[in-house]
Amino acid sequence: MTTLMGVSASCRLIISLSLTLFFIASAANFHDDIDITWGDHRAKILNKGKMLSLSLDQVSGSGFQSKAEYLFGRIDMQIKLVSGNSAGTVTAYYLSSLGLNHDEIDFEFLGNLSGEPYTVHTNVYTQGKGDREQQFHLWFDPTKHFHTYSIVWNPQSIIFLVDNIPVRVFENNEARGVPFPQSQPMRVYSSLWSADQWATRGGLEKTNWSCAPFKAYYSNFKAAACTVSASSSSCASLYNNETNWETLGLDADSRRRLRWVQKYYMIYNYCKDYKRFPQGRPRECRLSRFL
Ligand SMILES: *[C@@H]1O[C@H](CO)[C@@H](O)[C@H](O)[C@H]1NC(C)=O
Ligand SMILES: *[C@@H]1O[C@H](CO)[C@@H](O)[C@H](O)[C@H]1NC(C)=O
Ligand SMILES: *[C@@H]1O[C@H](CO)[C@@H](O)[C@H](O)[C@H]1NC(C)=O
Repeated sequence: MTTLMGVSASCRLIISLSLTLFFIASAANFHDDIDITWGDHRAKILNKGKMLSLSLDQVSGSGFQSKAEYLFGRIDMQIKLVSGNSAGTVTAYYLSSLGLNHDEIDFEFLGNLSGEPYTVHTNVYTQGKGDREQQFHLWFDPTKHFHTYSIVWNPQSIIFLVDNIPVRVFENNEARGVPFPQSQPMRVYSSLWSADQWATRGGLEKTNWSCAPFKAYYSNFKAAACTVSASSSSCASLYNNETNWETLGLDADSRRRLRWVQKYYMIYNYCKDYKRFPQGRPRECRLSRFL
């Protein structure tokens, strides 16, 4: 089942696409910025550090994490997701601190059958508590090209962006009793694994291992952020003039684009799931105009 001849058209897509990778110019270098933490040879840094690939087969997935820890910043990554039949696979890309009451800011890309849409699953954990899921479909095929997935985390808010379009905002409402991540440094993590008990159509579609190995590609990792080490902390200043992460909020144009995403592409919002919270929805749902 692993010979090329035996692989279906939808699986073969993966092979032909992987040949068109090496055209991205990049400043960042994965050798300097990340450590491969899982999956041995399944995670590879390619093209002199400009590209990284994760793969998943029936034995194992793979993953990496940033060398640095960040406390506020803007993190950008270009990702080309698993193509062809990616049902049952999950590509996670998130920020997380360590320990019991950890903070976490999550993107998870849930694969699908060939031609069916990926689901972008997002969540925010503060002080160990999540249950703040929002899910989206995308307005493009995320397996054809690289797209930029960003997290802006500053003292006012957390903004999730896709190709610089805000898809989700979590505001700092700590003064009104909603914990906000602001003291625990976080690393960037990414991994590719199979979670076919739940990932695709609630677990109906299983991972088809005859399509393995599944591969996701990364490039242009940028962290304009405050980095934390045992002895010191320092901040990279402005990301660029248009998107100064330190003060980035939502201007009228961004609010309009966020509403467009929410109207046409959001498929789940915990704040609208009244049945799930019979005792009353989470506090931030009542405080934020973006929820
Ligand atoms: C898995 O993929 C193979 C190759 O495309 C195909 O022949 C087979 O029917 C698929 N299995 C299932 C359960 O869909
Ligand atoms: C997969 O496709 C189905 C049908 O279009 C869709 O309902 C679902 O949201 C898609 N994504 C996942 C991860 O199941
Ligand atoms: C960014 O702002 C600085 C200071 O205001 C200015 O000198 C520089 O030309 C700007 N750069 C760009 C790319 O607009």
